[in-house]
Amino acid sequence: MTNILVIAHRGASGERPEHTIESYRLAIEEGADYIEPDLVMTRDGVLIARHENEIGGTTDVAQHPEFAERRRTQIIDGETMTGWFTEDFTIAEIKTLRARERLPELRPQNCAFDGRFTVPTFDEIIQLATEANRRRGGAAKIGVYPETKHPAHFTGIGLPLEQAVLDALRRHGYAADGSPVFIQSFDPRNLRQLRGMTRLPLVQLLEHELGDLGEIAKYADAIGIAKVLATPDGVRAAHAVNLKVHVWTFRAENEFLPDDLKIGGSPAALGCLDAEIQRFLGRGIDGFFVDFPAVGVRVRDAYLMEA
Ligand code: G3P
Ligand code: CA
Repeated sequence: MTNILVIAHRGASGERPEHTIESYRLAIEEGADYIEPDLVMTRDGVLIARHENEIGGTTDVAQHPEFAERRRTQIIDGETMTGWFTEDFTIAEIKTLRARERLPELRPQNCAFDGRFTVPTFDEIIQLATEANRRRGGAAKIGVYPETKHPAHFTGIGLPLEQAVLDALRRHGYAADGSPVFIQSFDPRNLRQLRGMTRLPLVQLLEHELGDLGEIAKYADAIGIAKVLATPDGVRAAHAVNLKVHVWTFRAENEFLPDDLKIGGSPAALGCLDAEIQRFLGRGIDGFFVDFPAVGVRVRDAYLMEA
């Protein structure tokens, strides 16, 4: 039977500050098939969910005078970054911080949760999924869709992500063949390395061009592509070499929608996300990342019902 995966992007990040247990919990309640944590590492080798290792934008670290001297500048993957970096903190120190909304101007309602939620470990996120699975009984397991962030940087500082990701999945029963897991990365070297370590499905993330899909198919099982790449021809080309196609990122605010689907003039107002998702489902995609999983599930289910 055809299925199309709804992947909760950073949890239900349109409705809660991203990468928090509360964001993932809401995504599970809303029926997402997979929850997506981006992963970075602490100084003492613990995987935590953050979109990048600089945490000034998504935590209250700047309000902690005891960490003021940790602010620094470094080059990461060719980009100069200034702020506070996860590799300079132990997990105990990270746990003293509280998450903040990344997009306060577009998502002011989420700011009501600023200061309330901690930064979760990858273990805590998989544990949340495991508990939900237990409550569901025999129903499909919640999938886990981790992304390794800045893997070369972390390897370079002696904190490699790869084995830690696999170990965490194994600890929670998510490493067997057929487990609902995809591991994603923008870095092909990282994925090739992982291919030598696991049979779990791997996803090559692509932003600007599809590139040599035949080559990608040698080490990956799917591509995770920006919407601009998800043309009907692009989807067909990927399927021709047995790559699944997952598309990112679907967001309901006008800021992120094409002009014909905006409603009203405010960038923060919600437009017609349903229609945008429907357009892409019609191109034959196999899954999509969405900040509003309830919308994704509703549109996907209606689409499959009519198909
Ligand atoms: O992982 C798919 C998508 O999330 C990639 O973009 O920047 O949101 O991690 P990003
Ligand atoms: Ca991601």
